[in-house]
Amino acid sequence: MKITRTRRQIINWRDHRKKLSVGFVPTMGFLHEGHLDLVRRARQENDFVAVSIFVNPTQFGPHEDFAAYPRNEKRDFEMLRREKVDLVFAPKSPKEIYPNGSEVVVRGRKNIASILEGEYRPFHFDGVTTVVLKLFNLIAPNQAYFGEKDYQQLQLIQHMAADLFLPIQVKAVKTRREKTGLAMSSRNSYFSEADRQAASKFYQILKSSK
Ligand code: PAF
Repeated sequence: MKITRTRRQIINWRDHRKKLSVGFVPTMGFLHEGHLDLVRRARQENDFVAVSIFVNPTQFGPHEDFAAYPRNEKRDFEMLRREKVDLVFAPKSPKEIYPNGSEVVVRGRKNIASILEGEYRPFHFDGVTTVVLKLFNLIAPNQAYFGEKDYQQLQLIQHMAADLFLPIQVKAVKTRREKTGLAMSSRNSYFSEADRQAASKFYQILKSSK
């Protein structure tokens, strides 16, 4: 597994594999089985698998958890090595991704970037679409894999890829859950045991209501 830190390294890597298919899984690290499901699907459907690990500052609001967001690069690398990932792109600093200031704003169909989560986190999806487009341009994948857990994000990225004519298929992967029904998420590490049990109830209640 090759670990790259710079834009130049990743562009070189891709240049040497022009004719082969690359499946890409973008992540913010602190990986769990949900991420590995995306990696495994990419492994099945492509010649090469590339994963990015980058806690993207532009998708966090000023009072959100950017600094506290859980990180464990060494453990992430071990997990990805076991899944036989070919390439990891883990920039050392946000300057590698944001040398200058441009942003892409994708509103999505029916303005979906502004509703639900977007209503409470007004710049969140601008940060997400900006970083995902930048990563797509660097890695030039044939297919990219996103979890249904972040359903609004998934829809927005699918709209972006289709509406901007990106030559990339955006694939959806089912949510991986704990035995209690709680969706796996890096941020679950913030929960106390009592929070974890309370959070699990949401899925149980939604399911029984359905
Ligand atoms: O879903 C995430 O982890 C992030 O929003 C993503 C897609 C890696 C962009 O930073």
